[in-house]
Amino acid sequence: MVRVDVKGCASFVQEADYAKYVTKALDAFDVLKNETGAGNDFLGWKKLPRQITERELHQYESIRDKWVKKGVDLVIAIGIGGSYLGAKCVIEALSHNFARQLKRKDAPEVVFAGNNLSEEYLAELMDLAAERNVACIVISKSGTTTEPAVAFRVVKQLIESRYGKAEAADRIVAITDAHKGALKTLSTQENYETFVVPDNVGGRFSVLTPVGLLPICVAGFDIKALVEGAQDAMKGLGIKSDKNPAVIYAAMRNCLLTELGKSTEILVNYNPKLTFVAEWWKQLYGESEGKDGKGIFPASVNNTADLHSMGQFIQEGSRLMFETVLHVERAQRSVVIEADPQDLDQLNFLAGKHVEHCNHMAELGTVLAHIDGGVPQMQVCIEKVDAFNLGGLLYFFEFACGISAYVLGVNPFNQPGVEAYKKNMFALLEKPGYEEATKAIKERL
Ligand code: PA5
Repeated sequence: MVRVDVKGCASFVQEADYAKYVTKALDAFDVLKNETGAGNDFLGWKKLPRQITERELHQYESIRDKWVKKGVDLVIAIGIGGSYLGAKCVIEALSHNFARQLKRKDAPEVVFAGNNLSEEYLAELMDLAAERNVACIVISKSGTTTEPAVAFRVVKQLIESRYGKAEAADRIVAITDAHKGALKTLSTQENYETFVVPDNVGGRFSVLTPVGLLPICVAGFDIKALVEGAQDAMKGLGIKSDKNPAVIYAAMRNCLLTELGKSTEILVNYNPKLTFVAEWWKQLYGESEGKDGKGIFPASVNNTADLHSMGQFIQEGSRLMFETVLHVERAQRSVVIEADPQDLDQLNFLAGKHVEHCNHMAELGTVLAHIDGGVPQMQVCIEKVDAFNLGGLLYFFEFACGISAYVLGVNPFNQPGVEAYKKNMFALLEKPGYEEATKAIKERL
């Protein structure tokens, strides 16, 4: 179970102030639990861990097994935002750091597309696909998002021209809305196996739907353990208490924002495997809270690398941030530093120590230095980076996000601001129906 430690905020925050925000967070907990707040038609994610059945997990495994039998060694997962980051963060966290170089073949390699509009990216993806046995999972809840639609057009053509239309239908799976959207129409027409993103689950809360589970399963990871971790978290987080880690996290971050003006939160990790957990978290909190002129700007650093780039700013730059450190209690691999007879690098004082011990001391030293530099510190702690703990961590952040956004006074489950760039892009691309907007935008150039 995730643990939250706020000791590193004690020298910044008055106890009475924090208590005020705990009360607000407990009220917000009720709003979330009783489903009485804004956006309450998008709360399907809360119960997902308990609703996922063995049968559902088996369906994903069957697709993986079918593709493995065909010799598929590259699965292109197409999607953007919430239709991408959940799967990407879990796959990155559970993968061997050097899986690609080691050419491990225990499951197909899953690569992502449709999360950018770079021509070079797509062209280079085609270079890779040219050498591999390819299948595709195309994901778009709305079924109308431009980036994945463009990528899918290219990948679909590649698969159809290489394997023929009938076989292509066996190598393409679509995940989209139950009834509407261009992707739904296309999937029905082309006879693709299709999974549904439930109406009441928004993109950034969809990691425990087929959106996340299918690519993670195809990549060879233990989705049952991921779901069990989320189930375990759900039990603990469902209890109304000032000891509930989601209540503590939501209360403290709102207290830091409102009482101290700390308007940036940096999620800090000390394990490269967690880089994309931070990217997923940034979308979750950025899209859920950044609206109505409010919100905490979510940023991230990957330490210790970023201590040698961003460390200076965090230590001594403008004091606008607090940090939330993702603390992992133990490494699952072992590298011990050996004594060296010459000791030219003067590291013999570390002889016999595990590298992770040094990592933990770097983390602790940084936390204390940043407190001295005026940066409040929270810790979100998990035991280790495995599927069970990740399931718990992702569910924790989702649940805490709902509470935190309600404390802030915004609807966590909409994202009206995401439309602004799309309107401009369509106007600039001269999409039919955008004639007036095209004229207006061209006058601005
Ligand atoms: O969280 C969200 O709702 C968004 O980030 C969406 O996931 C993202 O815009 C992709 O949308 P879609 O799945 O409809 O293509």
